[in-house]
Amino acid sequence: MSARQSIRILRSTAAARSVIRSAASKRAFTALAVAATRPAVAASTAAPIRPIVQQRGLKSINFGGTEEVVHERGDWPREKLLDYFKNDTLALIGYGSQGYGQGLNLRDNGINVIIGVRKDGASWKAAIEDGWVPGKNLFDVDTAIQKGTIVMNLLSDAAQSETWPHIKPLLTKGKTLYFSHGFSPVFKDLTKVETPKDIDVILVAPKGSGRTVRSLFKEGRGINSSYAVWQDVTGKAEEKAIALAVAVGSGYIYKTTFEKEVRSDLYGERGCLMGGIHGMFLAQYEVLRERGHSPSEAFNETVEEATQSLYPLIGKYGMDYMYDACSTTARRGALDWSPKFKDALKPVFNELYDRVVDGSETKRSLEFNSQPDYRDKFEKELQEIRELEIWRVGKEVRKLRPENN
Ligand SMILES: NC(=O)c1ccc[n+]([C@@H]2O[C@H](COP(=O)([O-])OP(=O)(O)OC[C@H]3O[C@@H](n4cnc5c(N)ncnc54)[C@H](OP(=O)(O)O)[C@@H]3O)[C@@H](O)[C@H]2O)c1
Repeated sequence: MSARQSIRILRSTAAARSVIRSAASKRAFTALAVAATRPAVAASTAAPIRPIVQQRGLKSINFGGTEEVVHERGDWPREKLLDYFKNDTLALIGYGSQGYGQGLNLRDNGINVIIGVRKDGASWKAAIEDGWVPGKNLFDVDTAIQKGTIVMNLLSDAAQSETWPHIKPLLTKGKTLYFSHGFSPVFKDLTKVETPKDIDVILVAPKGSGRTVRSLFKEGRGINSSYAVWQDVTGKAEEKAIALAVAVGSGYIYKTTFEKEVRSDLYGERGCLMGGIHGMFLAQYEVLRERGHSPSEAFNETVEEATQSLYPLIGKYGMDYMYDACSTTARRGALDWSPKFKDALKPVFNELYDRVVDGSETKRSLEFNSQPDYRDKFEKELQEIRELEIWRVGKEVRKLRPENN
């Protein structure tokens, strides 16, 4: 019996399930193959579980009925990463949220990484505070790009467009260009980011803020990231993207295209991740307040219970578990109302997706974020949010958490 056949048999056992769930490393696959030789395992009729097949480091996983090939950190142990990048200098341009997270993780992984930012700007100072040394591994943007073999463009999306006429000639043959968002090349009609034809262009997009990229890495965990290839001139672009994804601190990595990454990303952050959820919080809170409920009651029923009790359950165990963990009264009502919210919101989500695809959201973002006073304008809007009653109440409620007393 081949190891692969054995693994297939093992899939149908509860014993294998726990092994497969933790199959983040080759060691786990070895354990599977060894365990698979036991006859009792083959006879089990336990519920089917997600299939998993090892093919030269790739894993095909069944995500709710759709097979996807994914990669995991265990496929790229540190020694393999160090060997893979032994002749490379990674020039990371921009030291904002992602530059910070990805840069420090690369450095801690022992990869040869340098930072390129505007001299004496806010990022230059932040980089020095994080231990980057001018002239050693901290340079102005041009010098860093010239020194780099892999240029990681982690400027803000607006800055990528603004600086492109200057940066493009520095991206000479043999270098690799890396993004963490498909924004600039996909919307090139608007951004003018037309990548040189003779270099590999790849993407690794962590699904979270750069602060989380860093904090998960420090905890020994990893952020989920997507990866994609825009241009492959060496035949090695995909492999390079996967290796870089692991090197910057990813846990599991799934394949996408530049177009799909940018669409899902712009859509998600405007929807459930940020804009949509804020809109829903505000609507619910306002109705409670207008109907005579106290700030404490309105805030606890809208935000505090969500973030402190229920959403963590969704994150850890799933939506069904969360429903199951609540009273039958709550469960009945939530199950009845969920389709109504879905029907009301789906047209809004479709409108949003259309605006992402036709470039309206990109145009809006570029125009706003290219203004010299964009930071002040954002601050004004954030101040307005800070001053909303709901978030002022939130500040007081957080203070009252026993752990903050
Ligand atoms: N933040 C996230 O959660 C996240 C998640 C996934 C992917 N991404 C992607 O990662 C990339 C970087 O995003 P980010 O959020 O890390 O960016 P950010 O925090 O906005 O970083 C801005 C960086 O760009 C520099 N910069 C701005 N304008 C510049 C200019 N005109 N010339 C030179 N440098 C300029 C800033 O330097 P100064 O300090 O000198 O102004 C700073 O280092 C983007 O493509 C983004 O879409 C972000």
